[in-house]
Amino acid sequence: MESNVNLRTLSVDIGGSGVKVMVLDTQGNPITERGRLETPKPAKPQPIIDAITQLTSNQGDYERVSVGFPGVVKHGTVETAANLHPDWIGFDLAIALSKILKRPVRVVNDADMQGLGAIAGKGVELVVTLGTGFGSALFVNGKLLPNLEMGHHRFRKRESYEQQLGRDALDKVGHKKWNKRLGKAIASLSHLFNYDYLYIGGGEAKKVSIDLPSNVKIIPNITGLLGGINLWRD
Ligand code: BGC
Repeated sequence: MESNVNLRTLSVDIGGSGVKVMVLDTQGNPITERGRLETPKPAKPQPIIDAITQLTSNQGDYERVSVGFPGVVKHGTVETAANLHPDWIGFDLAIALSKILKRPVRVVNDADMQGLGAIAGKGVELVVTLGTGFGSALFVNGKLLPNLEMGHHRFRKRESYEQQLGRDALDKVGHKKWNKRLGKAIASLSHLFNYDYLYIGGGEAKKVSIDLPSNVKIIPNITGLLGGINLWRD
């Protein structure tokens, strides 16, 4: 059996506002400083791939690549990209990136990747991410139900979770109201999923100021990159 001992993973988190990279060792511990560039606008495939390539120049060597993408991804191909350019639809990111980086590449939804880095692997665990968009990932005993898209489902006032809790909403209504909405979202998700644990991540999780139920935990944004190691575990 091939040993995993020295395989370093370049972990990439493509977001609506930033593209982030970091290299992880075989255990999944970071071995480089996180690199970040603003997401190019328009956020089309080529400029984002160029940003990733540019970021890799400070990351030393690595043997494989994990990518979290902010949309539905199946077998490396993007199916939705609500907060990026529509040119992404149908784009095989895994193939395109592996041609350029000359390493094997695995791509999954960004919230799925974040969740893989956060969960305990027991019971029903839900992960939501608060950033440009509203990401979600669901796990049962550590097994992922891929591409759960709660963000685009109706939440309240004829608006989706993403419309009510995405960064645009936060900027528009301010922290207080946004936090109040988040409390309502947690109640609604709790009734729907009856999860054992809910993890809240993403760039705006640090703005959460409401008291959280004991089974709800804030996770650091870096979890989005740390989850990259799990794409290479069975
Ligand atoms: C996308 C999800 C993604 C989330 C967070 C949503 O708009 O549809 O796939 O996980 O944003 O980036």
